[in-house]
Amino acid sequence: MCGACHAIPGVHGANATVGPPLDRIAARMYLGGHLTNTPANMMKWIQHPQAIDPKNAMPELGVTNQDVKDIAGVPVHAPMSLLRPTNRRGTVR
Ligand code: HEC
Repeated sequence: MCGACHAIPGVHGANATVGPPLDRIAARMYLGGHLTNTPANMMKWIQHPQAIDPKNAMPELGVTNQDVKDIAGVPVHAPMSLLRPTNRRGTVR
């Protein structure tokens, strides 16, 4: 359902342009323009974008507490691999 409005690299059919593309979302500072991009805020945004910003164009989708954990794992963690995180020794994986 997210693919109806967002481009999500690696998700077949998710290439729409209504919302911003969700690749490298983890590297962005703010969600919806002003919400700090933390995992908790990401879950809040996905469940209640209208409560956070009634003027934004992303609708309330009725995402359940269980689903949001799975969904937030996609935008929050998938792009992390693109950021090439360093391991504990400080070398790039
Ligand atoms: C009806 C279209 C629509 C659907 C469906 C939709 N979104 Fe959105 N989404 C938007 C729009 C439009 C924005 C930009 C809102 C703004 O910043 O004003 C947005 C913003 C976002 C953002 C913040 C992006 C940023 O850079 O600030 C995330 C994360 C997000 N959506 C995730 C999802 C997820 C996950 C789903 C599926 C559960 C989903 N969206 C379904 C339209 C949609």
